[in-house]
Amino acid sequence: MTPRRGIVVGLGLLLLAGCEGAQTPLAPSADQASSVFNLLQLMLWVCGFMYLLVLGFLGWAIWRAARNLQPAPDASDTGLKLSLKVWAGVIVLGLCVLSLGSFLVDRSLAQAAAREQLVVRVTGQQWWWRIAYRLPGSQTWVETANEMHLPAGRTARIELGSTDVIHSFWIPNVAGKTDVIPGHANALDITPRRLGWFRGQCGEFCGLQHAHMALDVKVETAQAFQTWLQAQARPAQTPTDPTQLRGMQVLTGGACAACHVVRGTSAAGRTGPDLTHLASRKSIAAGLMPFSRSAVQGWIAQPAALKPGTNMPAVSLSPSDADALSAYLAGLQ
Ligand code: CUA
Repeated sequence: MTPRRGIVVGLGLLLLAGCEGAQTPLAPSADQASSVFNLLQLMLWVCGFMYLLVLGFLGWAIWRAARNLQPAPDASDTGLKLSLKVWAGVIVLGLCVLSLGSFLVDRSLAQAAAREQLVVRVTGQQWWWRIAYRLPGSQTWVETANEMHLPAGRTARIELGSTDVIHSFWIPNVAGKTDVIPGHANALDITPRRLGWFRGQCGEFCGLQHAHMALDVKVETAQAFQTWLQAQARPAQTPTDPTQLRGMQVLTGGACAACHVVRGTSAAGRTGPDLTHLASRKSIAAGLMPFSRSAVQGWIAQPAALKPGTNMPAVSLSPSDADALSAYLAGLQ
């Protein structure tokens, strides 16, 4: 393969790679993302057609000029006037098609609100996501962080708020971006269709760790979702293992409890993420690292080195306390 052909094939593969994956708007897996994807395709076709038309006429004019086929017609030429009218008509028609497509997609996105069934409250904070579910048929809220579960085939209403700066809630496979603004309530509806894990990402520059403000999203069956939500609603179990028990004492008696809540214990801080079921999550520190006991221990030891600018302070612990704490946190299923 020649180097030039290699480059062309490489670029083609790169384009195709964008059509699959857990974080791409080109593989829609919810009604809202499908609507936006259809609009994207319509715009590509209309604008692509216009572009090719312009290039075609340009090439034709150059070809004619090079051969001196005809003197250029002057402005009074009726043929020229007619072609200008036709061309203006084609442009207006193209703009009308794009406007109509945009209107229909906007309307379909707004209509989903009437079918809302599940309310999820998402709060953006530097640099993580607080997520709260309202339990069906009650006013009780269950909280988690950086991991959102959604039942397939049901519309969820996502209520968005921020405690500090402007963020943007964006799960490309599921829906378009919606700004998350302090002091202003925004909302969007999501009707996921395809099961699986997806990745959300803050879509608005919000400071040093904007890139590390990710969100794991799991779309599952309605039954699996109910099981998950019920498990999340339960308080943490008191461990029987002595090391884990010591870890619980380190957490509740030390600095951790000032910022974090572990429901079922005396730790009731509200600044940081709810840790009640930390070990059930896919990753830690808003998608920074996959969840593991060693990752948790490393994160507690030096958060500023792993995520410079984070509000999580380093907590000085003896090696045995650090080990016990990570054992306890790794048991919080
Ligand atoms: Cu939050 Cu970028």
